[in-house]
Amino acid sequence: MKQQQLNQIADRLEAKLAEHKIYCRVVGGRSNDFGLSMVLQPANGINPDKVFAARNIIKLAMRSDKINIAQHGALIEVLAVSGYSGNAVYLSDLIGQYGQLGQYHAVCGLRDDGQALAINLASPQTPHAMISGTTGSGKTVLAQSIITSVTHLNRPHTLGIVVLDPKGGDERFLKNISHHLLMPVATTPDEQFMALERVVQTMLERGNGNAMPRIVVYCDELADTALAGGKAALDLLSRIAARGRSAGINIIGATQNPSSKSLPEDLRRNLPLRIVGKVGNATEAKMASGISNCGAELLGGKGTFICVVNGTIQRFQGALPDIDISNPCKLPEWPKRGAYTHDGPVAMSHAKPLQINPPVMSQPVNSSPANNVSMSSDITIQTVISAMLKLKTEGKPVNRSTVLTTMNKPTGGAHWRQLTALWDTAIAQFQAI
Ligand SMILES: Nc1ncnc2c1ncn2[C@@H]1O[C@H](COP(=O)(O)OP(=O)(O)OP(=O)(O)O)[C@@H](O)[C@H]1O
Ligand SMILES: [Mg+2]
Repeated sequence: MKQQQLNQIADRLEAKLAEHKIYCRVVGGRSNDFGLSMVLQPANGINPDKVFAARNIIKLAMRSDKINIAQHGALIEVLAVSGYSGNAVYLSDLIGQYGQLGQYHAVCGLRDDGQALAINLASPQTPHAMISGTTGSGKTVLAQSIITSVTHLNRPHTLGIVVLDPKGGDERFLKNISHHLLMPVATTPDEQFMALERVVQTMLERGNGNAMPRIVVYCDELADTALAGGKAALDLLSRIAARGRSAGINIIGATQNPSSKSLPEDLRRNLPLRIVGKVGNATEAKMASGISNCGAELLGGKGTFICVVNGTIQRFQGALPDIDISNPCKLPEWPKRGAYTHDGPVAMSHAKPLQINPPVMSQPVNSSPANNVSMSSDITIQTVISAMLKLKTEGKPVNRSTVLTTMNKPTGGAHWRQLTALWDTAIAQFQAI
């Protein structure tokens, strides 16, 4: 593994732990056939037990399912036994490519051609989505990534979320989007009915006018909600699906059972974005996707999906929602390192001008020829601030030329333009450290 990759993982590990106030510094790292090891030095006052308890965070940061943690005196070694887990795709990595994301874009995952797949909730083509697949196919995880990414990019006054989930919802996810939740999670049929009624009321009050904040109604078990809530709940859902778009209201529904027996045809018809994971057979695949021969019965599960809009099919691996947006990390005094900077909502949401005509669903996140993938993933707020901190530590002047030179980039052309686009935000964050 190259030094640069090791540094990236070290930075990510420090940043992820810092998000949870477990401030540590990576003081060594190596990779060999056995795995990838990082040696952590906890900051003063940080109990090593906290690092041991943060196993799941470390797994996410090191992209590995198998972690060993051992203490050697004051240092702690974390070993990712199996290295990278091959298929996993992480939202934080994809959002790193956000250069082209418009306001209400949500990141779904990684397409087969290596581009990130984003959907545009403000597009007339993709106002409402139905995610289908057998149990364990990854519907809930995908919906969480979609919601997490769009909340990450939009502050609560521009986006609100309503969650209907008979299972009560995943605690970590709900905490993450707590600032955007418009009401407590609706769990029982009564609560779900009342939640839907409030959404319909808002829709009627808005008409086609004031559509702020955009509201995303995430219904994790669409067919169950329909079944338990009966015709009244179905009517409300159908009305939102039919008229919500112009009032700035979206539905994202997940279901194991997308058949017309569970969901009436008028509701299904108004859920034009179909995302389909592993299903039992070709008939179910057709029922879920709305088109014949989509091939969803051949998918392997574990977050592999196809996305179908207007008859076009896009295969992708759903992203794992590894971003913490509920607790934008406060930058600690020590140690001053770029790795502790965090592209929280402030940096991401409105730092860039919003696109007036955002790309449609199937366009890759990085589609501009002047903004190729490697470049935009290299020059991010985080990497720029890292370079600034390095310059500051070395007592050198911090300006665009020195930053680009520190990043081993040419000091002109597209790199210069890209740095310029990030400059004001980066300087503001750098000065706040
Ligand atoms: N994108 C993904 N990448 C890797 N693993 C995944 C992904 N999505 C889901 N998984 C794995 O599959 C498990 C089940 O996912 P999830 O809970 O989303 O399934 P589901 O389709 O919602 O199932 P159910 O219908 O029973 O609610 C997860 O706990 C995770 O281990
Ligand atoms: Mg589920």
